[in-house]
Parts: sequence; structure tokens; C-alpha cells
Amino acid sequence: MRPDLSEYTHFSAGKVREIYEIDDATLLMVATDRISAYDHVLDTDIPDKGRVLTAMSDFFFDALDFPNHLAGPADDERIPEKVVGRAMVCHKLEMLPFECVVRGYLTGSGLKEYRENGAVCGVGLPEGLTEASKLPEPIFTPATKAELGDHDENVSFARVVADLGEERAEELKAASIAIYSQAAEIAAQHGIILADTKFEFGLDAAGNLVLGDEVLTPDSSRYWPADSYEEGKVQPSFDKQYVRNWLTGPKSGWDIDSRTPPPELPGSVIEATRERYIEAYERISGRRFADWIGACAGY
Ligand SMILES: Nc1ncnc2c1ncn2[C@@H]1O[C@H](COP(=O)(O)OP(=O)(O)O)[C@@H](O)[C@H]1O
Ligand SMILES: [Mg+2]
Repeated sequence: MRPDLSEYTHFSAGKVREIYEIDDATLLMVATDRISAYDHVLDTDIPDKGRVLTAMSDFFFDALDFPNHLAGPADDERIPEKVVGRAMVCHKLEMLPFECVVRGYLTGSGLKEYRENGAVCGVGLPEGLTEASKLPEPIFTPATKAELGDHDENVSFARVVADLGEERAEELKAASIAIYSQAAEIAAQHGIILADTKFEFGLDAAGNLVLGDEVLTPDSSRYWPADSYEEGKVQPSFDKQYVRNWLTGPKSGWDIDSRTPPPELPGSVIEATRERYIEAYERISGRRFADWIGACAGY
């Protein structure tokens, strides 16, 4: 689904977002209801997902003490009516070519690397850690962005230094860890663990580091309910785990290694996933999703 916005020129399309140009320096970033899993964008949309991602980013951009790319409010009059609630007016940035991942807990590709060599992205870790272990302190584990259909590739901090220079690389690392820590504190106040997350930064016209893209959404983060947290086990999370489990389970008939596109999702999986996204927003922000829709449509 690409919204047809006659007002603006289409600028680019990502897996989830459609980006339009409002003027030379300003973008309209529209979060669609597309969902990706296992490096495929699925044929099935999750209704309201784009609104939830936008509400979540809006909540955190406001809560965080770091300059961000927002160039107007959620009900900005430059947002066309058909994408209200799923669009942000943003300053166009020169994006830095790294996904700035911060991990406070060990799981996923981080755990895999740790099991292979006791380190993640070159950051050495103590022995004896396992699935979902809390790390002694949050670590910066950057990745380079892959083309659609490929995995992002974890890289060392030395690689970031080689590309961006020492000063900018250190700035990126410090900013990422500081923002993660602030967000993890906010999530903890609502009984949620922020296990890890990914930021994308860019530079503004003056060369200042600015937080861009989406932030702290279930698509870019692993959130775990704190009350059921248990080291050593794969944690239930507020993301697409439900979709992933169905796709790799017996009912989908899909072979993940086949490189064929995944099948359409059944209605029950669509609805359960939609509810997980809304629940994540409501629990983590302490706000009601219905209020977000109301606030955006209020002009
Ligand atoms: N302020 C900004 N200026 C320019 N590009 C941005 C800005 N914020 C985010 N982007 C880029 O917009 C795209 C967002 O679309 P998305 O669907 O999330 O893409 P992806 O498939 O790369 O995750 C990303 O490529 C991201 O780097
Ligand atoms: Mg993205």
C-alpha cells in the first residue's frame, strides 16, 4: 500500500515507510501497515500497525533528551488527511550508514555471536551468559544496513571509526547508549524491559547529530514483560514473534530457506498481531491508542 498523495513528490520507499518531499529540507514520513519478517515484506498488512509505530515514536521523541528530526506536531496541517496518525513531518537529514544497536540483554544475533566467540561486535563479555542474560552494562553493537532480502551485518566499533572518524564514532556510541538508558528507564516504570533497540542518526545542515527514523517501536526494539522475565529462556515479546512463529510453524507450509515469498497470514494471526502492537504502545507509553487517533484527527 503506497498512499497516493498528490500534494507531494514521492521521495523513497523503505520496507515499512513511504517518504514524500514537502520541500527541499522537509520530508513527510508515512508508516504503512506493512510488516516484514525474515527479511521479506509480507503480502499481508496488519491494520493500524503504521499508526501504532507513529504513536510510539512520537511518545519517545517527546520523552527523550536528544535532538530529533521532527519538524512539526502529529496534527501538523501539512499532513494530508488520508495519512493522519501515521505520518511525521521531519527535517531531511544526511543519514549515517549504520544501524546503531544497543543491547542491555543478550538474545538473537548477539547471543549467536557470543556463543561463537564470547563477544558481540568486538565487545568482549563475561563468561557464562545465556539466553536473555542481563549484560553488566548496555553495549553498542552497530550493524550495516543490508539491501532488502539480506540480513543486516553486525560490525565492530573499529569499522564505524574507519568510516566516520573517531570523534563522530564516539559521539554516536555515547548518544546511542545514553538514549537506550533513558528509554529503558521509561519502559521499566511501566513494567517492561527494553532488551535491545536500534537507532538511526543523521546530520543536519550544520553537521549536528540528530536522531532520525522511527524510535523505540516494537519493529526496532525488543520489549519483554518484566513480571515474567526469566534468564535462560526465550522471552515472549511485543513484536512480530507471533508472525514469525506462525510462518515457521507447521500450518504455514512455508520453507524459510526456500527464498520463495512467505504465504499470506490468516485472519487470526493478523488480529493477534494487531493486538500485540496496540498492547505494546498502551503498556509502554501508558496512553490509550484510541486517544492517539483522536488527537491526530482533531483538526
Ligand atoms: N530525517 C530523515 N531524513 C532522511 N532519511 C531518513 C530520515 N529518517 C529516516 N530516514 C530513512 O528513511 C527510511 C525509513 O523507511 P523504512 O521503511 O523504515 O526503511 P528500511 O526498510 O530501511 O527500514 C530509512 O531508509 C531511513 O534511513
Ligand atoms: Mg526502518
